[in-house]
Amino acid sequence: MIIVGGETMHQDVKKILISHEEIDEKCQELGQVITDYYKDREDAPILVALLKGSVPFLAALIKYIDLDIEYDFMDVSSYEGTESVRDVRIIKDLNRSIKGKDILLVEDIVDTGHTINEIMRLLENKGANEIKVVSLLDKPSRREVDVEADFVGFVIPNEFVIGFGLDFDEKYRNLPYVGVLKDEFYQ
Ligand code: IMP
Repeated sequence: MIIVGGETMHQDVKKILISHEEIDEKCQELGQVITDYYKDREDAPILVALLKGSVPFLAALIKYIDLDIEYDFMDVSSYEGTESVRDVRIIKDLNRSIKGKDILLVEDIVDTGHTINEIMRLLENKGANEIKVVSLLDKPSRREVDVEADFVGFVIPNEFVIGFGLDFDEKYRNLPYVGVLKDEFYQ
């Protein structure tokens, strides 16, 4: 471990992009915006979080949402099917019906956009009423489909990031900040 500016940095990390404190402040802001957006509705939204990356973000965010929300999880794997069309396979589905419900999809990062695009289609097919997306991170320069999150924490450059739920080979999800992995780990 190396101490950098008060935050303990993992030795495999090249630089810290977003500190834990900045993430917490942003979750507070997002929580307020989300609360204001839904507060006059009869029913609070159901938060649908995508495993595994969005778990730390979900936990940080819900503390600041002042509504009677519920949350549930989905796990999907994305793959390129025939004729280069992306498809998603459901590994874990929702536990309850969402027919007629407002859904707030919780993502760690929107990159190419394929994942939220496909999940939104799945949720529509399940009869959801309104579907909105909140994402901690957004990499707009990598987008391949025309889809945007409605609530975004941080727009980041085209760098592979780890920490706060994001992994490389299933590692580093537990880092309390978002950082860039040292180049040597990609080879
Ligand atoms: P998309 O379908 O390309 O938008 O990608 C979404 C998923 O790809 C995210 O939920 C992440 O699991 C993964 N992902 C995209 N960019 C990164 C990154 O920089 N670090 C770690 N995982 C990433």
